[in-house]
Amino acid sequence: MHINHFETIANQLAEDGFSVTDNFLTSEEVRNITGLDVFKDGSLRRAGIGNKNKQLNEAIRGDSISWIDFSAAPPSLKIYLNRLGNLRLYLNEALYLSLKDMEAHFASYPSGSFYKRHLDQFKSDDHRKLSVLLYLNEDWQPEQGGELRMYLNSTQKDFLPLGGRLICFRSDMMEHEVLPATRERLSITGWMLDQFSDLRHL
Ligand code: OGA
Ligand code: MN
Repeated sequence: MHINHFETIANQLAEDGFSVTDNFLTSEEVRNITGLDVFKDGSLRRAGIGNKNKQLNEAIRGDSISWIDFSAAPPSLKIYLNRLGNLRLYLNEALYLSLKDMEAHFASYPSGSFYKRHLDQFKSDDHRKLSVLLYLNEDWQPEQGGELRMYLNSTQKDFLPLGGRLICFRSDMMEHEVLPATRERLSITGWMLDQFSDLRHL
């Protein structure tokens, strides 16, 4: 089953620079992740954008995040991280990439918050090659908003943050934005890197 997902993801990435896969995780697998303490115990912290101006920050992104320590991941999270690890190896073979590692954080966007249009690669020495988003929102309704807006060549496409949906895209190419929602919006944001992550010390 997942091998089919992997093949579709590789083909979509090669053709379009991004891929959208529903049911990458089952709703039960998603529920087991949203039940983790990280969403209740205050570990989520306001995300930064590489400058110290809090107000400017707020005007650009409003999410709170918690970086994932892969070596200490609980079983429900390991299921996802292992699947992602297998996807990394698959993409290396299928698309001749040399993705060496991953890093990821939980993210929570409170109702009304957003992340303005941006690229995930800010500096020329950035080693993020693929951005990988997993949404964790059960029963998300279209009128609740919170779409990921992807900017393509001459058009744009919006995707709802449906639980179990995985979206991958080229970090260096694809500009994107998170639109405000009318309820809390949960996800795991990750990146596949062309070198080992310096989060190893976590
Ligand atoms: C990010 C990001 C998109 C989303 O964290 O860099 O763009 O849909 N997230 O959560
Ligand atoms: Mn982004």
